[in-house]
Amino acid sequence: MTAKPDSSNSSGGMADASGPAERVLSGIQPTGVLHIGNYFGAIKQHLEYQDRYAGEAFYFIADYHALTTVKDPEEMGRLVRGVALDYLALGLDPDKATFYRQSDLPEVCELTWILGCVTGVGLLDRAVAYKDKVRQGIAASVGLYIYPLLQAADILIVRSSLVPVGQDQAQHLEITRDIAGSFNAAYDCDLFPRPKTILNDAAVVPGMDGQKMSKSYDNTVPIFASEDEIAARVKRVKTSSTPLGEPIDPGTDIVYQLYRLFASQEDADAMSRAYRAGEMGYGASKGLLQAAMVSYFEPYRDRRHELEGDLDYVEDVLRQGAERAREEARLTLDLAREYVGLAARTTTGAAR
Ligand code: ADP
Ligand code: TRP
Repeated sequence: MTAKPDSSNSSGGMADASGPAERVLSGIQPTGVLHIGNYFGAIKQHLEYQDRYAGEAFYFIADYHALTTVKDPEEMGRLVRGVALDYLALGLDPDKATFYRQSDLPEVCELTWILGCVTGVGLLDRAVAYKDKVRQGIAASVGLYIYPLLQAADILIVRSSLVPVGQDQAQHLEITRDIAGSFNAAYDCDLFPRPKTILNDAAVVPGMDGQKMSKSYDNTVPIFASEDEIAARVKRVKTSSTPLGEPIDPGTDIVYQLYRLFASQEDADAMSRAYRAGEMGYGASKGLLQAAMVSYFEPYRDRRHELEGDLDYVEDVLRQGAERAREEARLTLDLAREYVGLAARTTTGAAR
């Protein structure tokens, strides 16, 4: 290799070649109605990080990824809108976080290809999410197979260093670190950071049946479920056959595992004590869980209704987010193209 790219004067005042000190990024697939597993496993953290890393937090709706499973174009539009509404209602602040639709940043597809050329098939062969999804009956498409590669491009295109996700994404992050390392080694550079996986306490939220809460298992409680829906779902939460008056172990009880996510420490401790003393049965604990679930998201419901009536605003947020993300993406892509020896871009992309 002859000369290394020098981006020091090409950044237009944005990040330099080494990128910012810390940048947060995460994506959420629009493949269903967002549920409380998504909230406590991912969304809550996203909102915390937008405050801690205001101006350096990037969140996007992963619609390219969702194409691996969502085949109905109208449903895709509906699901994307639903995720945007949920995030904005729950407190995503466009002044602090860059919020965009993945497909508004087609540059990630170009980076996917470039990274794909330094990624061994063995790395993707080891991805368990692919095997799981095929086992669940999802078509074994090339898109599904290279899903982790596209995810690596999402993360690396803005050179983010922190990725808050749920436990089930840990392997995809390992793959991303491997890919970043392969690129840097192949081109003797340090263009890409090795992003850290940020997990929170509620790494796995149980569903009503005790398995991981997931839309694939039909065991979820949607964040914006109506009161009646919540009541019906709480009724379905699986319990042991411990008779009333006998102690219940909170460590293995799903009602308690869910309740402590919503309740104050004091209230959670009270349930735990009452269970252990044999003073609380499932009827009472389910009543408390239901009330806690309803009141927890209550303040966000009105905001969601308001936003539903102002979809132009929602669209504007996503568009502006994409513009901001594109500034970073183009900088990274220009450097990547130069490192691998592709000609400098001839289009500005301004008209896109
Ligand atoms: P689902 O399992 O319902 O298909 P996704 O795979 O779309 O959900 O997950 C979106 C985000 O929410 C990911 O970061 C994932 O780790 C997190 N997440 C999903 N379900 C849970 C759960 N039960 N507990 C904790 N985090 C979860
Ligand atoms: N695979 C993630 C999920 O299923 C979504 C996602 C796509 C993502 N690209 C990402 C998460 C980049 C973090 C970073 O939840």
